[in-house]
Amino acid sequence: MATEVPAFSPHVPSTELRGSGGLTPPGPVLTRFFGTPGLYTLAVYRDHGGYRSLERALKEMTPQEVHAQVKASGLRGRGGAGFPTGTKWGFVPADVPGPRYVVVNFDEAEPGTTKDRYLVENCPHQLLEGACIAAYAVGAHQVWIYIRGEYDHPYRILLEAIEEARQQGILGERPFGVDYPLDIQLYRGHGAYICGEETGLLESLEGKRPQPRSRPPFPAVKGAWGRPTLMNNVETLSTLPWIVEHGGQAYHALGTDRSGGTRMLSVSGDVRRPGVYEIPIGVTFRHVIMELAGGPPPGRQVKVFWPGGSSAPVLPASMLDVSTDLDELARVGSMGGSGGVIVADDSRCVVKAAARLLRFYAHESCGKCTPCRVGTDWAVRTYRRILDGEGSSADLQILDRIQASLQNGRCLCGLGDSGGWVIMSTMRHFRPEYEAHALRRQCVTGECERQGAADA
Ligand SMILES: Cc1cc2nc3c(=O)[nH]c(=O)nc-3n(C[C@H](O)[C@H](O)[C@H](O)COP(=O)(O)O)c2cc1C
Ligand code: SF4
Repeated sequence: MATEVPAFSPHVPSTELRGSGGLTPPGPVLTRFFGTPGLYTLAVYRDHGGYRSLERALKEMTPQEVHAQVKASGLRGRGGAGFPTGTKWGFVPADVPGPRYVVVNFDEAEPGTTKDRYLVENCPHQLLEGACIAAYAVGAHQVWIYIRGEYDHPYRILLEAIEEARQQGILGERPFGVDYPLDIQLYRGHGAYICGEETGLLESLEGKRPQPRSRPPFPAVKGAWGRPTLMNNVETLSTLPWIVEHGGQAYHALGTDRSGGTRMLSVSGDVRRPGVYEIPIGVTFRHVIMELAGGPPPGRQVKVFWPGGSSAPVLPASMLDVSTDLDELARVGSMGGSGGVIVADDSRCVVKAAARLLRFYAHESCGKCTPCRVGTDWAVRTYRRILDGEGSSADLQILDRIQASLQNGRCLCGLGDSGGWVIMSTMRHFRPEYEAHALRRQCVTGECERQGAADA
């Protein structure tokens, strides 16, 4: 079915290109052609070798061979959980007859995360090619791209790119003359953070309220419309053309033993050069924050950073030398998450920042399970009391109980854990700030006196 393409001219160039810090040949991977005029068009993408990997996969490789390369690459999902991509593909059953789907998670609503938008605005065909390679590998013919509702510009870019690929026969009955029909449809998201959670997304894609499903069954077995479904993040899929072209081992060699390759980090907050950077996995956060992003504003010190989006437990400045390796982050009690690095300098009140995030999680809670629905709301009210100067030691105990009740599998999806991690990690590393607010009515940074606590 042809999609009607609305008028879209002139093309608005993407946000400022920040480069690909620290990568030596054969890197960078995802951003290697960024900055080339017209890279978003099919013609320019093909001039740079675009769609050669898909053609090669379809003509010269079996689905199992593609899968083997992805396994060898050590690629881990870039959407949040960091699950090994090759292993996940193996969960899609090979022997179930009937339709199956690849779903691209382009909801990107995690605070501090903008990398998927950046990838698509610069090079939409890289994503389309990667999604088609994944479809071939798991035996799917239909790809759905679930795009965040507010992403109007990337939506239009993708509509145009899909239409170009259809007109050139890359999508259709016989891509590159091979009898393997492929199609891609775009679906605009419903404007809630929970739409990015994989089973909430599937509910939304089916036109329902985006409330996460109980698992098992997992989407690989029973996903969209009850069919086997592979869901991957935009960045995960955009990496596949490079892996097929250069081989899984070459990709693996760019990163660390347990986390192969490169990844995109969106750096925001109190830094001089906020932006999106591609890094080889394994460099330190000191390199990312102090060198690539230029460090905090003059006269300021880094105080705290979120290494993987607002859902990742915070780390204090004393941990700037922690590596971007996913296992290393887990070892120090955090996670690589969505790659959104949020930096706060020493003028920021951590209690106020945590309160603001809890308000976000409470607002975005879908309400399906009690610990999350009730716990996040309690947390908001407790933070309110503390920031209003009406706190006590009992409030610190309440926060402690709430964070414990939100974590460790007590909620149906990761949103509950995320709210709990904000409280747990900020209390763990900045307990004196909490005590100053709750017990002595003091903000140690003075931010709450300067700006008021009311906007938390
Ligand atoms: C509340 C919540 C929101 C999420 N939002 C996104 C999102 O916007 N994009 C994304 O790729 N993954 C998101 N995830 C993770 C997905 O559930 C899923 O793990 C991911 O899409 C799998 O792709 P990957 O294996 O390529 O990382 C979210 C998870 C949770 C719990
Ligand atoms: S944890 Fe929160 S967002 Fe997730 S299903 Fe439960 S109530 Fe909904």
